[in-house]
Amino acid sequence: MKQTILVTGGTGFIGSHTTVELQNAGYKVVIVDNLSNSQASVIDGIEKITGVRPAFEQVDCRDMDAMDKVFAKYPDIEGIIHFAASKAVGESVEKPLLYYRNNIVSLLNLLELMPKHGVKGIIFSSSCTVYGQPDPENLPVTEDAPIKPAESPYGNTKQINEEIIRDYINSGADIKAILLRYFNPIGSHPSSIIGEMPNGVPMNLIPYVTQTAIGIREQLKVFGNDYDTPDGTCIRDYIYVVDLAKAHVKAMERVLDTDSDKLEVFNVGTGHGVSTKQIIDAFEKATGVKLNWAYAPRRAGDIEKVWANPEKANKVLGWKAETSLEDTLRSAWNWQKKLREEGIQ
Ligand code: UD1
Repeated sequence: MKQTILVTGGTGFIGSHTTVELQNAGYKVVIVDNLSNSQASVIDGIEKITGVRPAFEQVDCRDMDAMDKVFAKYPDIEGIIHFAASKAVGESVEKPLLYYRNNIVSLLNLLELMPKHGVKGIIFSSSCTVYGQPDPENLPVTEDAPIKPAESPYGNTKQINEEIIRDYINSGADIKAILLRYFNPIGSHPSSIIGEMPNGVPMNLIPYVTQTAIGIREQLKVFGNDYDTPDGTCIRDYIYVVDLAKAHVKAMERVLDTDSDKLEVFNVGTGHGVSTKQIIDAFEKATGVKLNWAYAPRRAGDIEKVWANPEKANKVLGWKAETSLEDTLRSAWNWQKKLREEGIQ
């Protein structure tokens, strides 16, 4: 058995898939989640997939005393993967203080508790949002591309949290950290036992696509067809959530088991830019389902095009995105059908 890892936000979309991969790799997992945007039943799903039930504590990471007690209860915790955060861009504009308190106080608590409880490493969920719209010469974007002013309080919390970790390590704190900058995570576990559970009307593209395909939404609106891209629609780097989860396992091994630098940053993407229109075509091809869609005006604040240069993660972490876009989209569709079968959505 490998080390014990605390996964905050472990019942969420990326957290649950990462818990599965950590357990498959032999780690013991303790999940902390306040269930503000997820269900406790996800724990059953993780157990069904892996045969191992992770420990679970329903705790809010903003609660310092409660977090202190979690570390005291599980003295073997050696590493943390910190997913727990609010993540809706639009909501963050309306409720900035909620976002700053949730996303920043949680990290501060973890960092303060790490030395006290002998926790050596932390992996932080960051986002390609920190690059804003990279200049053309910086595409595909590397980790050295300039950080652009954040477009929203949500994006700002990612930037501030990166800086907090950097400042803390520069102060001589006896911890190591890896910042993972995710591109666009999509899809669901191949078992269709866990997956993405959007709250209300989805803001992100893939849940909107699958909900339209199954008839929950009438029509997918493609936001803008006059961008400076080959087909006029925006370009992103869509990465399969299981591949992304595996990047966390590699990052955790590196933080805990090697003498790597105290702070490292990695892009986690496929290296391929795919347009919204190409997503629609690939979805129809992969599933055989015809999608009702139409062009609509641009969405405020959207980035025109961004995709990763993932070479650093490929070489240094020994990790590569492996799953095809079609398999990934099929997994998202299978999950949507599963939700329908169970009468959930
Ligand atoms: C968005 C956030 C990003 C955040 C990420 C988290 C914005 C501007 N960016 O990324 O900061 O880290 O979510 O998941 O909100 N699209 C449509 N129709 C739809 C939905 C989306 O055409 O109904 C298009 C969008 O215009 C975009 C692409 O699909 O070009 C992907 O959108 P989305 O899934 O929301 O992700 P991002 O905008 O990349």
